[in-house]
Amino acid sequence: MAAPRPLPRRFAVKSFGCQMNVYDGERMGELLAAQGMTPADEGEAADLIVLNTCHIRERAAEKVFSDIGRIVKSSAEAGAPRPMIAVAGCVAQAEGAEIVSRAKSVDVVVGPQAYHRLPALVAEAAAGGTGIDTDMPATSKFGALPARRRAGPSALLTVQEGCDKFCTYCVVPYTRGAEVSRPWGQILDEARALVDNGAREITLLGQNVNAWEGEDERGRVQGLDGLICALDRLPGLKRIRYTTSHPNDMRDGLIAAHAEVPSLMPFLHLPVQSGSDRILRAMNRSHDATGYLRLIERVRAARPDIAISGDFIVGFPGETEADFAATLDLVREVRHAQAFSFKYSPRPGTPAATLADQVPPAIMDERLQRLQALLNAQQHAFNEATRGRRTDVLIERAGKRPGQMLGKSPWLQSVHLMTDAAIGALVEVEIVSAGPNSVAAAELVPA
Ligand code: SAH
Ligand code: SF4
Ligand code: F3S
Repeated sequence: MAAPRPLPRRFAVKSFGCQMNVYDGERMGELLAAQGMTPADEGEAADLIVLNTCHIRERAAEKVFSDIGRIVKSSAEAGAPRPMIAVAGCVAQAEGAEIVSRAKSVDVVVGPQAYHRLPALVAEAAAGGTGIDTDMPATSKFGALPARRRAGPSALLTVQEGCDKFCTYCVVPYTRGAEVSRPWGQILDEARALVDNGAREITLLGQNVNAWEGEDERGRVQGLDGLICALDRLPGLKRIRYTTSHPNDMRDGLIAAHAEVPSLMPFLHLPVQSGSDRILRAMNRSHDATGYLRLIERVRAARPDIAISGDFIVGFPGETEADFAATLDLVREVRHAQAFSFKYSPRPGTPAATLADQVPPAIMDERLQRLQALLNAQQHAFNEATRGRRTDVLIERAGKRPGQMLGKSPWLQSVHLMTDAAIGALVEVEIVSAGPNSVAAAELVPA
């Protein structure tokens, strides 16, 4: 037992990884605030630091330990007491108590399904113990979280968690547990609270968000498209997005929603990982390249201007130059608006980590460069093709120059423009120029 110390008063939450972690980080902040703690402002010292971690690739996981080292060092240099350190998120789930033995300065370890217990764990640590909870409780944490308080113009809302797909490279089924859909009424309540607090756009989140399923208030079974239709009727909510989707859960109703629901934005993040059927099989993706391409065609038939995004892994064990060439072919056919691509990272405990035929790092580097050059060119071409379009921009924050504001187009492009409009406004614009990572727009003055 360590010596007891006062309960922390100023907290900081630092989130890594996917948007679901960003959402969890916001909820942990709300939980701590409900206990009377206040968020530490920029530059202010926090006496509780929550590292909300990601385990997806080796480099992401290692960051935790270098961050802990940095926190300890800087408090020692300032002659200040070390802040309480809580490790949350997917590294906490995957490594649990081992974290405490590797990094003695960690006081709390809490997994993604148990963070409603964070205040209690912080109290245990303050009393001199170590607060560890990496349970996957049968009852959901969501019922134990306080109501949403603050929201920017664009808010995140987790509707589905966990994954049953077990792609052979991936830790998510182990760190987040089995697929669970949050109930209909709970989601609509949270969406209303977000809109009441200023949200104009909501992004529905899930590891396989398009697998969401539930019963509406009349007991009818609904899929994600039904949920989106209900949200579309919410006064004040202007834009709906969802991420991340799995190709095998992309049902007809959801595709049709892209044609029919006005507030559903023309953007689809649909990871495919590889264009080689042999590799897709080894990854246990349970779809092939042709099936994926047909699916994209159907989505485009419903919504011709839709922006397609994806995730790719290069250098999966056994990937040959011909397999990689098949990925490039698929990318050429899809024409992405944006995409994320990664070098394969062997993750402890996943089936692919022990496969023979691991691809040498130099080959992975070279393939990643070629893939990213193609994807970057596609993103630039997509931006170019939107030049001259009249559309709206949701203003999210001030730009660097006086009078300049930044926001997002319906196709999730970063847009900069000169306007008097405030944060949260939807401004009618024409896109006037395009760069590789953003576009410039001119505000249309109403006649
Ligand atoms: N549920 C989502 C993805 C979640 S992880 C889906 O299936 O689409 C986000 C991305 O990280 C994945 O799409 C994949 O491209 C990448 N990724 C996951 N595990 C990885 C690993 N071991 N090495 C490299 N990239 C990985
Ligand atoms: Fe990971 Fe595959 Fe599940 Fe996505 S679908 S979270 S890549 S196991
Ligand atoms: Fe990372 Fe966990 Fe998300 S491993 S990508 S934070 S689900």
